[in-house]
Formats: sequence, structure tokens, C-alpha cells
Amino acid sequence: MDKPKVFVTRIIPEAGLKMVLDACDAEVWPDEQPPPRDILLEKVRGVVGLLPLLTDRIDGEVMDAAGNRLTIISNYAVGYDNIDIQAATDRGILVGNTPGALTETTADLAFALLMAAARRLGEGIDYIRADKWETFKPMELLGRDIHHATLGIIGMGRIGTEVARRASGFDMEVIYYDHHGRAERGETVGARLCSTLDELFEQADFISLHVPLTPETHHLIDADAFSKMKNTAILINTARGPVVDTDALYNALSSENIAYAALDVTDPEPLPSDHKLMMLPNCLIVPHIGSATIATRSRMAVMAAENLLAGIQGQVPDHLVNPDVLARRRQG
Ligand code: DGY
Repeated sequence: MDKPKVFVTRIIPEAGLKMVLDACDAEVWPDEQPPPRDILLEKVRGVVGLLPLLTDRIDGEVMDAAGNRLTIISNYAVGYDNIDIQAATDRGILVGNTPGALTETTADLAFALLMAAARRLGEGIDYIRADKWETFKPMELLGRDIHHATLGIIGMGRIGTEVARRASGFDMEVIYYDHHGRAERGETVGARLCSTLDELFEQADFISLHVPLTPETHHLIDADAFSKMKNTAILINTARGPVVDTDALYNALSSENIAYAALDVTDPEPLPSDHKLMMLPNCLIVPHIGSATIATRSRMAVMAAENLLAGIQGQVPDHLVNPDVLARRRQG
């Protein structure tokens, strides 16, 4: 029997890739760069399964180019803002993602960024490299205390909860705001729920973002939000770049309306090396590496492969983003 045809848009870690190659007639895009749009539209033709990355825009056009055999789109990411979910549901296509696989790894990075920003690690490294370390100076490179400071978490989902847990080990006070009102989650980690975002902006020394990118969270952190934060506030973003309005962030940092930002994600992404944010000493930026450990990327690959194989074998994948599709599929 012919193996099901699938397209994998990048080489993913061996553990998951092997599962796909063994079970499918798979074409794997070999470059580090995403397949150009016209190539993507060509490569998906006739596939039953598609395994894309967060940098591949998968919309109705791609789904239609694939044709009506396309059963599952298994994203190699927990976030799925790169996929038009409604378009997939309308066409009866399952969409899978990789929740859980990267929760603690991303929380680790959020906390690493928090600490690096508070203690100005990036500037310290640049300082030595620029040969400025002459002697111990009482007033040089002074940062801010992490212990006993207030951390404001926006989005108390899996990653937000893990960040809160880490913060408790540093004797931080944790407050949070959650668009879904998940009060119980915060209580389990000793965090205090804020009734409004403004309350969080006003009280937090550190603000860490853990919301998905949706129309509701697009530019959630804008000029108005910055105007309510403390001048000493430090913003950490490991969620999605467009949750923050980049121009407003630049203005807030350059006018010292807030003290610092540490970003794993940016808008645009990638951020050009000559972008105005890169010129600011109080902005630390790393290239979307929240899930980038060997073990986690491998777990994500296995999870994405499992979702893909479940979908093409007519099963419901363990991590289904669009459960509404099941009713749509039952109707035929
Ligand atoms: C995700 O999975 O959504 C992260 O941004 C990358 O691993």
C-alpha cells in the first residue's frame, strides 16, 4: 500500500523526523530558510499531512493548494498564530500543536531574561569586551534586585505558572492577570490575581508576557500600557513579538518611561541588526530561543510527528487545536 504523502517544511530533530520518514512518503524541505511561498504552494499539492513551523504562513490558499486529501496540519510549535484555524476547521482539517513539551524550558528562558535584564548582564559583557573594566567602581553597572521584587505575569497558562513557580524561589511577590480568569492556577503557585491589567502595570517591577497572539492580545502592550508602568519596570517577552507595539516600546525605553526590556520575540522577526531597538543599551534581545534546548526540541518533534501520524491514520491527535473540526468532519 502506498504510504501517505506529507510535506515537512524543515529538518526537525531526528527522533520525530524518523517517525515521519518511516511511516510516510515524506518530502522534507532541506534549507534553514522557510520554503518561499510559491514553492510551499507547489510542495503541498496532494499531501495528506503537513508539518510546518511557526514561520510558515498556512492559510486557506495553502490548504486549497494541498487539495481535499489534506487531513492534518501538525505545527512544530505550541503557538499556532501562523495557521488560519478557522480556514482549517471550515475545510475539515485537523490542526495539532506541541503544548507541554516546552513549558519549563520557555519558563527557564523567561527567568533567565528577567535576571539578565535586572543585573544588566548584556551590558556587563559588552563592557569587558570594549576594554572598559579598569577597576571596581561603586557606581558602575548598577542593576535592580530580583529578590523581594514584584513580578507581574500576564497570562497564567502553563508557562506563566512555571515562571511564577521559579519566582517564588527568589522570594518575589507574584501578581497576575489572566484573560481567561484562571484564578486557581495562580493560587497553586501563591500568586495574587489582579482584577485589571492596569493594577498589574501599576504594581509590577517586572512584567512577563505569557499570552498567545490573537486579535485580542495584538499590541496589548502599547503606549497607554507603558504610561501606566513604573519608570523602573522591566518587561520580558517570550510570547509573541506583536503582543508588544514595537514603536511604543522603543519610545518607552528611549525616554526611560520604563527601565529595561528583555525580548525573546520581536516584531518584526527576525529583527534586523540595525533596527532602532538594537541601538538601545536597555534592551536585551535574543533570537526566539525559548524552546531551544536539545531535549525540548526533540520532544516537540516527537509530539508533532505523533499528531501528524494520528491525523493521517484517521485518529484524533492528542493535541488538537480546533476540536470544532470534529463535528464538521462528522457532517462530512
Ligand atoms: C512555540 O512553540 O510557539 C515557540 O514560540 C517556539 O518553540
